[in-house]
Formats: sequence, C-alpha cells, structure tokens
Amino acid sequence: MGDMNKFPSVFESIDDLTFEQIRSLLTVSAQNKIRFQDRQFAPYESYRKYVVATSFLEHSTRTKHSFGLAIQKLGCMYVDFNAEKSSLQKGESIEETLLTLWYQGVDICVLRTSVSNQFSEFKNNPPIKLINGGDGINEHPTQALLDLFTLVDQGLELNGKTITIVGDSKHSRVTHSLVRLLPQFGAKVILCGPKEYLYEDKNVQLVTHLDEALAQSDILYMLRIQKERHNSPEYTKIYESYHQHFGIDLAKLKKHNKTIPVLHPGPANIGVEIASDVLKSELFLGYQQVVNSVYTRMAILMAMLENGDKTIGHKPVRL
Ligand code: NCD
Repeated sequence: MGDMNKFPSVFESIDDLTFEQIRSLLTVSAQNKIRFQDRQFAPYESYRKYVVATSFLEHSTRTKHSFGLAIQKLGCMYVDFNAEKSSLQKGESIEETLLTLWYQGVDICVLRTSVSNQFSEFKNNPPIKLINGGDGINEHPTQALLDLFTLVDQGLELNGKTITIVGDSKHSRVTHSLVRLLPQFGAKVILCGPKEYLYEDKNVQLVTHLDEALAQSDILYMLRIQKERHNSPEYTKIYESYHQHFGIDLAKLKKHNKTIPVLHPGPANIGVEIASDVLKSELFLGYQQVVNSVYTRMAILMAMLENGDKTIGHKPVRL
C-alpha cells in the first residue's frame, strides 16, 4: 500500500492523513468492494495474524458493527471489548485499559468515547494503535471517509460541486470531519440549519434558509438533531418546528427542481430531518453508505496494521 508506511498509529482526525493517503484509502476501498461483492467471504491470509478490538463507550449500531464485520472479513481475530462491564468501572484509566489490551495481544482498538479530543493525549506515546470511532463532538473521520468513498463510488464528481450539510452541524462530529475532507476534493460545503445549530469554520458557508441552500446544492447530507448533546433551551426550542423548516421530503425537493443525491450517516429520525418518501426513493444513498462502510473501514484497518510502527506500548522510565 505504497506510502501507507507513514499511516498514523493514532487516527483521530482527517487532518492526520495526507491527501495521498486519503486517495489510497479510496483505491483500496474500491478493491475491497470488488473482492467482497455479492456477499463473498474472501479473507486475506496475511491478516490472520492480527487481532482488532472495538470498544464503544457510547451507543452505536452502524460504526461498531461495520468495524466488527470489516475486522472479520479481513481475516483478523475480533474482540468486542465490553467497556461497560470492564475495570473502567472500577476506576481504571483508559490508558491502562488500552495497554492491557495491547499486552494481551490486540493490535488495534477502535474506540468511541463521549470525551472530545481524547485521542490527542495518546499521539506521542500510543498505548495501542487507535482508531477514532467518534469522540464526543470532535470528529468521526472513518464516517467522513466512507461518505467520500460512497460519492466517488457513485461516480459523482466533487470538484466544483456544492454539498449542503443540513442540521445540527455544531454538535455533529461527522460534520467536523466532512468539512476537513470534502474541500480537499474541490467541493464547496454549505452548512444549513437554524443559526443556533450552525458550526462556524473557515471552510464553509452558513445558510439559515433551506430554500436558499437547496437552490445552490448538488448533493445533500442530512443530519440527526444531536439531542443527547443539548443542554440548553437555546437548542431544544427548535425541535417542534424543525421538520417544517429544515426537514426534507420529495415535494420540497421537486418544488426546487432538486432531485439530487441525499446522504445520511444514520441513525435517521424519519419525519424529522428526512421524510420516508425520500428515504425510500432512489435519491437516498444512506444504504450505500452502510454497504461501503465495511470496505472503507477494512482499508483503514489494513493501512494501520501495515504501517510498520514498532513504538507501541509502555516505555518504562530508566532510573
Ligand atoms: C453518527 C455518530 O454517531 O456520530 N452516526 C454514525 O456513526 N453513523 C451520527 C449520529 O449519531 O447522528
């Protein structure tokens, strides 16, 4: 995998990757998709020696299970580390927990945590190889990469195109990764939603009216309202009128002559940000994102397993 020997051992953010590494992940995702098409199970012999764990300290359906499938389809041993029943509950630190997994023979841990930027502290001295499966409101880089692969895989040109991310971008870690990724491929990103929900970033344009955003959009990316992160009436007062102002249905899209691709990372709240007629239509790429999630996550695991980093684990202090 070429320049992948510099692939980071702690993958926290889209900013941790070079453009070439991202391009290479897209290529390998496509190769995996061909190799495993039609539900074929064709593990790679060379990956049987590796062990990969997932540890999810926040709820998940898609991310955890697509990593679990990616790990096993590659041919690696899969350990589902149940953090809720672990010694983390006895006051053990995350670092000690990760070191324990490493000494037990685990090569990579895919970690989801509610703490934003938790991975940064491990970058200089990784206790184990780590992949960010979503850290608080900070980032969700593997989701953004599989979204990019889905767009490319659909044959959609990004250069010069406008992608509008609609919803609670302020609290959406997926958005925070997408705005670092999509402009690298020449796409313009608009964030649309009630002003209280908008994330401010130098790479984006902010729009508070859906009509105005739709008029400029080539691709839509819908977000769930991140209610679990709302702790003030400023955010909750918007719930009732949300669908009317920022939810999409087929009628709204047709009215604006915008029968364009619609992505969603899931889980979707049907009838809130997206109506079921859009979800059931050919415009909706959400299920393709799920299909592709396994192939892109395999590519990420391959790159990290093969990066040749021999510096992982505990380094005793010399006395
Ligand atoms: C997202 C997440 O957990 O950040 N879901 C996912 O991983 N597919 C988005 C969300 O929860 O809204």
